[in-house]
Amino acid sequence: MIRLKNFLYLKDLSKNQIDELLNLSDHYLNSNPPHEFQNLLSNQSIASLFFEPSTRTSASFQVAAKRLGAETIIIDEKKSSATKGETILDTIRNLEAMGVKAFIIRTGDTNLFNPLINDVGPNTHLISAGESSISHPTQGLLDLLTIRQEKDSFEDLKVVIMGDISHSRVARSLAEGLEIMNTGNVTLVSPVEFKPEMSSFPNAKHENDPKKGLSDADVIVALRVQKERIESTESSLSLEQYSNEYQLSEDKLALCKPNAIVMHPGPMNRGIEISDQVADGKQSVILKQVENGVAVRMAVLTQILKQ
Ligand code: CP
Repeated sequence: MIRLKNFLYLKDLSKNQIDELLNLSDHYLNSNPPHEFQNLLSNQSIASLFFEPSTRTSASFQVAAKRLGAETIIIDEKKSSATKGETILDTIRNLEAMGVKAFIIRTGDTNLFNPLINDVGPNTHLISAGESSISHPTQGLLDLLTIRQEKDSFEDLKVVIMGDISHSRVARSLAEGLEIMNTGNVTLVSPVEFKPEMSSFPNAKHENDPKKGLSDADVIVALRVQKERIESTESSLSLEQYSNEYQLSEDKLALCKPNAIVMHPGPMNRGIEISDQVADGKQSVILKQVENGVAVRMAVLTQILKQ
C-alpha cells in the first residue's frame, strides 16, 4: 500500500489506491468485534478543526479515531484562540509542538490547503473534512464504497447526481471518484441555476429535465439545496418551484431502474430535495452511507498514520 502524506482530493489518487482504501474499509466493516483495531493508532494524537458546521463527518472521524485507539483533540473554533486572531497555521504549529500528527480540517476557504501543505511540518498530515464547494474526499470515498457494495461494477452503471450541484463539494469529489473507477454514465440533473461549470465535471453530462435524466438510473444521489451558500439575489428559483420540479419523489424514482439505490450525503432537507417516502423507503441506502463513513475514515487514518 502506497503511503499518503495528505488526503485532500480524490483526483490525486489512482484506481489502485482507491481500491485499496475501499478494501480496507470493507475489512473494518466485516471484522467483528471492532476492538481488535484498538492498538493500530495507540499513542497517536489527531486534531479536529471544523470551521463550518458538521454532524456526520466530525462524529464519524471521532468514532473512527477511537476505534483505532487514537486520541482526538477537538478544537471548537468559537471557543478557540482563533477568535483572538490566531492563524490556523499558528494553531497547527502549537498542536504539532504537543505531538499532534494529523489535522482533520473543514473549511469554507478555497485557499487554505494549498499554502498549508507547504508550511506544516514534514511529518504532519492534513485531511480534508470538506473544503468550500471544492472537495469532500472522505464523503466521495464512502459514496464509492456504498455503490460498490450494492452494484457489481462501476463500468456499466448510470449514476445520477441531482440537486444543487454548483455549490456541492460532494458532487465534485464523487464525480472525481466515479471517473477514476471508469463509471459508464454520470449524469448531473439540475435547473440551470444549479448547473456547475462543466469543466469541473469533464466526464459527466448535464440534463435540465429530471424525467430524462433519471431514466434507467442505477444510482441516484440527491443533494441538499445549500441555502447558506446562495446569495439571495443569485437564484430566481424558489424552494417551492425547486421541490415541485426536482424533488426525488416516488413518481420520479419510478423512472429509474427497479433496483436503483437512493443516496444522500446528509443533512437532508426533507420535503425539498427528497420526499420522506423515498428517504425512508426500501431503496434508500442513506444510513448505510453513514455506517460506511466510519469505516472509510478508519481506512484513511490508518493509511496515513499507521507506523
Ligand atoms: N455529509 C456531510 O458532510 O455531513 P456533515 O456536514 O453533517 O458532516
